Amino acid sequence: MPTRILMVCLGNICRSPLAEGILRDKVDPDVVIVDSAGTAGYHIGNPPDPRSISVARKYGLDISQQRSRKFTSVDLEAFDIIYAMDHSNYAHILDMARDETEMGKVKMLLQDGGSKTVEVPDPYYGPEGGFERVFHLIDKACTAIAAKYTEKPWDE
Ligand code: 4NP
Repeated sequence: MPTRILMVCLGNICRSPLAEGILRDKVDPDVVIVDSAGTAGYHIGNPPDPRSISVARKYGLDISQQRSRKFTSVDLEAFDIIYAMDHSNYAHILDMARDETEMGKVKMLLQDGGSKTVEVPDPYYGPEGGFERVFHLIDKACTAIAAKYTEKPWDE
């Protein structure tokens, strides 16, 4: 059974689509399945923010086919690990958890990825440079997380 990992932010158009695309690129799809969702439904059905698509493309990833969806309590059953981008997402997801098993699935992405920074800052209202910083924060954490599971055999 592959490990199922869900990346969660607020809108599912800036940070978690990047996290989905970045981690997916680092793992064997037979071993780790990656998806993303947002705690808010503002952008359901929309593609990622053009600034996220652009920074991903700069580093060789195409995330343009992703579509925003809202996080639901079913995700707490369906996924093995749920990574929150910031404390607000984390609290929102924990509030929806029904038991200790579900609570135990929820983690902060950067913390689990060994970063000194705890939150992936929300770049939505900020300048474009925020997306570059967000990309690198997520990329570093995902390198560490991918190593915890099985890396792509062709990387070894
Ligand atoms: P995300 O960024 O949570 O990284 O997708 C945001 C996207 C949209 C909004 C806020 C944050 N919004 O308020 O619409």
